[in-house]
Amino acid sequence: MRKPFVAGNWKMYKTVSEARHLVSEMVPGLQAVSGVDKVLCPPFIDLLAIAALLEGTDIGLGAQNMHWEASGAFTGEVSPPMVAELCKYVILGHSERRAYFGETDATVNRKVQAALAHNLVPIVCVGETLTEYEAGRTNEVVFRQMKLGLTGIELPDGNALVVAYEPVWAIGTGRAATGKGANAVVADVIRVALAEQFGSQVSQEVRVLYGGSVKGDNAAEFFAEPEIDGALVGGASLKAPDFIRIVQAAAASQA
Ligand code: PGA
Repeated sequence: MRKPFVAGNWKMYKTVSEARHLVSEMVPGLQAVSGVDKVLCPPFIDLLAIAALLEGTDIGLGAQNMHWEASGAFTGEVSPPMVAELCKYVILGHSERRAYFGETDATVNRKVQAALAHNLVPIVCVGETLTEYEAGRTNEVVFRQMKLGLTGIELPDGNALVVAYEPVWAIGTGRAATGKGANAVVADVIRVALAEQFGSQVSQEVRVLYGGSVKGDNAAEFFAEPEIDGALVGGASLKAPDFIRIVQAAAASQA
């Protein structure tokens, strides 16, 4: 039985004071839901303040990216030990990083290695673009991202890794995938790649999320699918009632 997992990817939104305000609005509602791993991923600059606000709660904290080196002359970058002092999770390989910041399967792989070496749980994002989707290349693209992103990786157990299937055409567009469509990619591609890399038992333990225009009113459709264990939420994670509703839907899917 995989525990549902819902993470909010705040992207480049919320100053420190805005972030503090949003988290104070969210904490009571999130704390009221049990049986779900709840994670907030604000911008780097907010992490210290939010870590303090989340102390003593069961809400996890994650970064949205990091460098693979532990330290060095890398102006503007943030290292795994810096993230690990404040966070348990780190989003890696988000499609916006791939599209706008030169992230490749090879850099994702280095970052996943580094995350695991520093006891961070990577949330590795994969997903096809609209052009790839329309050309019927979804499975091929997602399989390649999984294989190359996870090359050489070993896991102590399935809880050390989270994967997010995020079709790029569904991110921020209001055009979500269907539950059935996303479940098929997770079942036929992502879990197959996980099994090849980590063996069948671990492949069944890893939580696989869906991401792309998840909202309060469509979340249940995804959580009802057997191979989808939660959501990576962008836009709807910036409003306390919307994010809480999605977390509640994840809890309800277990009932
Ligand atoms: P969205 O973003 O929910 O705003 O579509 C999802 C993501 O990019 O993780």
